[in-house]
Amino acid sequence: MRATVRVDVERVVGTIDPKIYGNFAEHLGRCIYGGIYDPGSPLSDERGFRTDVAEMVRRLRVSILRWPGGNFVSGYHWLDGVGPRESRPHRHDLAWHAIETNQFGTDEFLEYCHLIGAAPYICLNLGTGTIDEAAAWVAYCNCDDSTYYAQLRRKNGHPEPYRVMYWGLGNELYGDWQIGHKTAEEYARLAEETAKVLRWTDPSIRLVACGAQRVDWDWEVLRRTARHVDFISAHFYFGPQPGEDATLSLLAAPYAAGEYLDILAGLISGIRREQKIEREIAIAVDEWNCWYRQRRPPLEEQYNLVDAICVATFLNLLRRRAGTIKIANLAQLVNVIAPIFTRPDGLFLQTIYWPLLAAVRYSGPFLVRCDTESDGFTTSRVVAGSVPYVDALATLDPDTRKLYVSVVNLHPREGIDVAVRIHEARIRGQIQAHVMTADRPDLANSFENPDAIRLMLRNVPEPKDDVVWEAPPLSAAVLEVPVGR
Ligand code: AHR
Repeated sequence: MRATVRVDVERVVGTIDPKIYGNFAEHLGRCIYGGIYDPGSPLSDERGFRTDVAEMVRRLRVSILRWPGGNFVSGYHWLDGVGPRESRPHRHDLAWHAIETNQFGTDEFLEYCHLIGAAPYICLNLGTGTIDEAAAWVAYCNCDDSTYYAQLRRKNGHPEPYRVMYWGLGNELYGDWQIGHKTAEEYARLAEETAKVLRWTDPSIRLVACGAQRVDWDWEVLRRTARHVDFISAHFYFGPQPGEDATLSLLAAPYAAGEYLDILAGLISGIRREQKIEREIAIAVDEWNCWYRQRRPPLEEQYNLVDAICVATFLNLLRRRAGTIKIANLAQLVNVIAPIFTRPDGLFLQTIYWPLLAAVRYSGPFLVRCDTESDGFTTSRVVAGSVPYVDALATLDPDTRKLYVSVVNLHPREGIDVAVRIHEARIRGQIQAHVMTADRPDLANSFENPDAIRLMLRNVPEPKDDVVWEAPPLSAAVLEVPVGR
């Protein structure tokens, strides 16, 4: 099978926001306790942070970290998690039916963000929380005056404000699984009023309204909140659909998400036009991943090659929509549906770690024009009816003059010869491919076999005309091409 990818290096069509390489840490299972934070472990530092985990997180260059939930946040009262640890209360976590000890709270989270170099993104409790409680949290983190919560932060050992920029107006309040579930109208009114008060508390913050991947909800929320918010969220969890070929169905799921993301971008444009809003409102895909096996806590999904290909496809898709998507957070960081998996004496990297690493490391800040011609497969998951076997994306780093062409072969059995035609630039050196593949779709990493799937480096033969990448079945590769003018 053959496919063609045409890249025009001179046609920059977007700037990729680094905040799309974000992640998410929820109080759920072993994500925080036993994952990020494990005081007393020989692998932890004096603050209780697992240093081996932090190192692997840093390599992923996580740009923004969302916390503390997820479903958890809709019953969370942040004051329980600040101040002397020994006097913090234990509470029922009714979202995940656990006991929350509150040993990891706001100050620990913000220290952790500092350690890994990520911008903090705090999701507020709009389930059982009040407007006052939300405003107090912003004041605790950001105010530098003589008011009560700024003083409380100082008393807790943090003289300087943290200046947390990103705040989420609740989590998935559209679903009846959520504590404090609301109708679109109820949520939109609460979000509107909360947003106003938060902005009056700290005008510099950026707010994310909670979207539902549904036109009726998203339209109502945008209608009410557009004047006050900077983002609307969308969550996508990929899994196969019953009655379809499991592999192809899973691999089509990012395309179905892409169709809704285009609709959401249209809703945003519609509201901005109707309400004459010049300011940008962007999309925050603030939870996404493959998740279809483990439905109950601790949600310790073990990922295989097909899952990693699905993740690579969605990373291409997110960057293709660089104009409208400005935040994205993989759910989640450690142990819970996560790329990093720990036990008390160490960790291994799941298959999905590698496309994430490839995307941050082998990608330029600019999206350039890239058109793909490829056969595809039919699926009922997308309105368009079919999904191409080859998904490609091109980015450029003008400083190093490197062109990065990310090529995913979704075909479960066939290798594809992908002809990459580069316009408006000369190739001036060895092309390298950073490839992830395996000969078994169900292959996974584990403590016993930690490197079954990882990123490999291959030289691509010097091209006579087009660059030809022989994409193995179920492979994700980034071609690193040195280019001159
Ligand atoms: O990431 C796991 C859960 O998935 C989150 O708590 C919730 O927001 C979503 O439904």
